[in-house]
Amino acid sequence: MPMASSYINSGFSIILFVVLVNTCSRVANAAGNFYQDFDLTWGENRAKIFREGQLLSLSLDKTSGSGFQSKKEYLFGRIDMQLKLVAGNSAGTVTAYYLSSQGPTHDEIDYEFLGNVTGQPYILHTNVFTQGKGNREQQFYLWFDPTKNFHTYSIIWNPQHIVFLVDNTPIRVFKNAESVGVPFPKKQPMRIYSSLWNADDWATRGGLVKTDWSRAPFTAYYRNFNAQTCSGSCSNSKFANGAWQSQGLDAYSQRRLKWVQKNFMIYNYCTDYKRFSQGFPLECRR
Ligand SMILES: *[C@@H]1O[C@H](CO)[C@@H](O)[C@H](O)[C@H]1NC(C)=O
Repeated sequence: MPMASSYINSGFSIILFVVLVNTCSRVANAAGNFYQDFDLTWGENRAKIFREGQLLSLSLDKTSGSGFQSKKEYLFGRIDMQLKLVAGNSAGTVTAYYLSSQGPTHDEIDYEFLGNVTGQPYILHTNVFTQGKGNREQQFYLWFDPTKNFHTYSIIWNPQHIVFLVDNTPIRVFKNAESVGVPFPKKQPMRIYSSLWNADDWATRGGLVKTDWSRAPFTAYYRNFNAQTCSGSCSNSKFANGAWQSQGLDAYSQRRLKWVQKNFMIYNYCTDYKRFSQGFPLECRR
């Protein structure tokens, strides 16, 4: 009976559709509550969650810094967090915000914000570790004062590439270069970590400026955490929350990336001839 069978068929696809949409949207809309999504891991009461889980702060004083980490691990996704960095004389402080897996062959995707004396620019330091090996630093100034307001720092991580975005502008793309023998993070799930600590031995151009402890405690703020991932496999994801999974950047994003790299990039390991006089890393040679 054609009628009956098509009736059953469409009933089945509706159920299937609902199941798929549920699986993905539940994770996709995991808009943050810091109590639910994170553990405060060190620094005792220097790390705090307040406003019913909508705001988190880390602080640093002469005795200790502080930090937190996500309860969940992620394998691919788009992760957004808004940060407001230590204001005033923040020289010597480092606010690290990164994804990392565990162990000696871990993968890692790093943002590190290096503070500065009042009125001088922060440096945004980035790095990518694959199979325990980093040495892929790129550094940027920002086109705004990151201590005045919250800004969104995102990581898109899919099998094709890792994209760092600041307020939705891509600043760095690390492409999958497995075809030329560069390992790419794609097997080890990562947690999100953040910490505020003192690094006046290196962060201020090799320890040139020391942390002014009379300004302590130093405080950074976090809000609006959002993670878009697929709970199961990301391959059958016609129904998933798309954009972060698609390959490549669109033309507008490419232009923005070029604009940042031209005007705000202050260090790129791929152009450091002195450091790599024996030959550039493989991923730089394309
Ligand atoms: C601090 O400001 C100085 C002077 O503008 C600049 O050269 C340096 O890159 C800035 N950042 C850090 C972390 O030293």
